[in-house]
Amino acid sequence: MAQITIDGETYEVGDGLTILEALDQLGVLMNEVELPHYCWHPKLSVDGSCRLCQVEIEGVPKLQIACNTPVRDGMVIHTKSERVEQARRGVMELLLLNHPLDCPICDQAGECKLQDYAFDYGVKHARTDLPRRPAKKGFELGPTIVFDQERCILCRRCVRFCREVSQTGELGVFQRGERSLLETFPGAELDNPYSMNVADICPVGALTTKDFRFKVRVWFLDDVPSICNQCGRGCNINASRSNNRVYRFVPRRNDAVNQTWICDHGRMSYKGLTEGRCTEARVGSRRVNYDEAVSTAGDRLRSAIDAKRPIVVVASPFASNEDLFVLQRLIGDLGCEPGTFAIERGDSDALLIRADKCPNAEGARALGFLESDAAVGEAAIALVLGRVAPERLVNVETQVQLVSHEADISVSADVVLPVRSHAEYLGSFTNFERRAQRFSPFLEPCFEAWSFGDALTEIARAAKVLGWEQPFDVIRVSRELAQAVPAFAGLDLESLPAEGAPLR
Ligand code: SF4
Ligand code: SF4
Ligand code: FES
Repeated sequence: MAQITIDGETYEVGDGLTILEALDQLGVLMNEVELPHYCWHPKLSVDGSCRLCQVEIEGVPKLQIACNTPVRDGMVIHTKSERVEQARRGVMELLLLNHPLDCPICDQAGECKLQDYAFDYGVKHARTDLPRRPAKKGFELGPTIVFDQERCILCRRCVRFCREVSQTGELGVFQRGERSLLETFPGAELDNPYSMNVADICPVGALTTKDFRFKVRVWFLDDVPSICNQCGRGCNINASRSNNRVYRFVPRRNDAVNQTWICDHGRMSYKGLTEGRCTEARVGSRRVNYDEAVSTAGDRLRSAIDAKRPIVVVASPFASNEDLFVLQRLIGDLGCEPGTFAIERGDSDALLIRADKCPNAEGARALGFLESDAAVGEAAIALVLGRVAPERLVNVETQVQLVSHEADISVSADVVLPVRSHAEYLGSFTNFERRAQRFSPFLEPCFEAWSFGDALTEIARAAKVLGWEQPFDVIRVSRELAQAVPAFAGLDLESLPAEGAPLR
């Protein structure tokens, strides 16, 4: 360890780290220690090109860049001295020399580091009357990203991302000196499963996603932390919403899960939250209100219980840990066979994308559900969560299905109850590495729909199953889960840290 002093505060940091890395690991960068930087990114190699992170180190005659200067025991660093601020003003003046300063029509405005630092360190008037260097405006680098070349400050974050993270290397900086330009390699286009991350890491408005560009000003959005539910990785995201509408998903940093990245598929999955939703309860082909569907399901469940006929349960790896715990308790109280769940699989890679295309298969396993896509046994009634292959239910007389999307409704479902998507309620998923992670609601459905746990509880209440008198309360259920299942000990929703925690 090394002891360093920054602006009078002393910190213990890991030896061998650079100053910026040390501050990042301490969690104080841009928080307690305001140290502007452009080209440095915590998950990319050092470039050292923007020169904005210069600091004064006692005993060292020249200013040093914090992103490429290793800490030393006893180092005394100043980030706010007059020399440092003068250097920042000089860097900003150079960076703004050719910049169009078109913030009013730039989609990055409001979350642009160039705008922020120009405000803090920029000079008010250019000291040149030469024309700004012409560059291309608003052209497509590939199917997802639009490039405004004139705004680029050549920090090369996007270039390093494509080389080091996606490992596709489509981008490069061409020409020399004042003529340097970011471009795709001849004949290549920016097209890889992680391409849209370059828009997140571009510190200015040079790279924007086609999808989000000009949809809404960012100051109208608020970000709700959530989890992507499109594969077993469970990448951490922020859902940016306004007026009960989601405009984008962006990655939320979690070094234990997704670093600072998400895949393009997961990013675009916000569109499926509202499209094709199941909005009405049904009994047979009749559209009914929610209460009637619940009481019909409850009556049929009660008849099966009274007749001592078999009841089966099909779980969903898209349901939360809390939903599945409620289902598991119901199975115990009804004395059914163990519940099963099936997993859909697809492509995977070595970076983030997992082959299992569901967010909570590990949670289902940890709660005692068995993975199976075989037909369930003969039964008077099946309680089915989510999508199910019709051939799994050929031996079932009555099917009660809880679904969020129209396309998932089984042709043979007798009672259908619309349920909320994970965007619409509070809960947790367990990712493929057995890490429990909380998600919070960021949308309110404009039709009647309950969470799986809520709907199951109401069906059990309608069937007058003993011990099911209380309505569903996700916080209470999560506490009961943490007490009843050793793997979830201490992991109730109120205790789960923002970055999640491994199952015990
Ligand atoms: S496009 Fe953005 S990320 Fe890429 S070099 Fe230019 S400023 Fe940096
Ligand atoms: S890797 Fe998986 S969890 Fe992560 S963003 Fe992509 S689909 Fe979502
Ligand atoms: S952040 Fe250090 S030189 Fe760019």
